[in-house]
Amino acid sequence: MNVIDLINKTKNSAPLTDSEIKWLVNEYTEGSVPDYQMSAWLMAVCLNGLTEQETLSLTYAMRDSGETLQLDLPLTADKHSTGGVGDKTSLIIGPAAAACGVCVAKMSGRGLGHTGGTIDKLESIKGFRTDMPLAEFEKILRETGFSVISQSGNLCPADKKIYALRNSTGTVNSIPLICASIMSKKLATNADCLVLDVKYGSGAFMKTRSDAEKLAALMEKIGKAAGKKCRAVVTDMDMPLGINIGNALEVEEAIDILSGKTKGRLYDICIGLTADILELAGKGSYDECVDMAKEAISSGKALDIFRRTIELHGGNPDVCEDTLLLPHARFTYKVKAACDMKISSFDTEELGMVSLLLGAGRIAKDDRIDMSAGIIMNTQPGDVLNAGDTMMTLCSTVCSDFSDAAMRAVKAVRFEKINCQPPLT
Ligand code: URA
Repeated sequence: MNVIDLINKTKNSAPLTDSEIKWLVNEYTEGSVPDYQMSAWLMAVCLNGLTEQETLSLTYAMRDSGETLQLDLPLTADKHSTGGVGDKTSLIIGPAAAACGVCVAKMSGRGLGHTGGTIDKLESIKGFRTDMPLAEFEKILRETGFSVISQSGNLCPADKKIYALRNSTGTVNSIPLICASIMSKKLATNADCLVLDVKYGSGAFMKTRSDAEKLAALMEKIGKAAGKKCRAVVTDMDMPLGINIGNALEVEEAIDILSGKTKGRLYDICIGLTADILELAGKGSYDECVDMAKEAISSGKALDIFRRTIELHGGNPDVCEDTLLLPHARFTYKVKAACDMKISSFDTEELGMVSLLLGAGRIAKDDRIDMSAGIIMNTQPGDVLNAGDTMMTLCSTVCSDFSDAAMRAVKAVRFEKINCQPPLT
């Protein structure tokens, strides 16, 4: 086979065969096809797309480039969100589904840029380990039904290499490439039931609902074609998910939801996604599964599972009763409304960037995180504020000068003026 022929075929919208795609992915992963040729092919995909069959072949080729997980468990589920700000849903859905008898086995990554990672959030609990042998992961799953492990080095190496290249060649934003990248990793972890939460809006890969729906439909088709029970839903990211953004702050909010203290939009989304998992796993109709998910939380069973999971991962389980045991920021700063206003929405991506500035995330892969850092959203879209009311609270231990972060936080608020000038910090 000749790589130039394959580039030309995609450039002319002629579909590649399964073996051509497999060959291209393998040769690139092994280093025989150079970056510049793979970039040309990826750009042709961005411009012309791929057929569903080609997307499936690409997904399989990337999945098969490394190890696949083989867990000796009766039925496992996984939930994936396509990047979010303040998205702590996995910490709530995992224990809630486990409490209803469905094992949630999550292999997860660390956060990079404005989006957070489940692993970082959990590691804000003192002692919590996610880097563990598969046998230990499996043992925890058997006992509690919920566990999270950091991504294995040899899972989908082709995706690792191609994703890095896409990042540096302006070829991230392509529905078939995003689909194949996510689904190859999901298929490599081999859960029986997959719930995919595709975000749209500010801070998400998909900026519009209609693109998110296309990506969701394609991922669901690929998952089903690979023999999985699969459902994809779309969620709006024009506001952060919940009140807190930042690692320990998000664990605290997850515990508040699991202990039944807090309800609201985050609770409703988690109940819905848990019900999706339960229904896929054959636990009942969607409405029955909603009731089961609610009962898992109101009975305290989900929190008990989270507690035991933390303990088995080496963390301090007492955080479930006393969230003061989580890291707390040394410095805080209240961003206030300068005048009367009605909040319309937030630039969620910018809030993610503010959180990053405060120390909650990483710009480069090996940056250290301030686990206490982040933002508490004191307002939600629709709220009417008087001058002087707090819009959000910035938290950090590593950063005591809040001027840049506060200025950007103000710009992330979209509001209707009620008798006023733009807000000041
Ligand atoms: N997440 C991934 O893993 N891959 C993409 O291409 C986009 C988001």
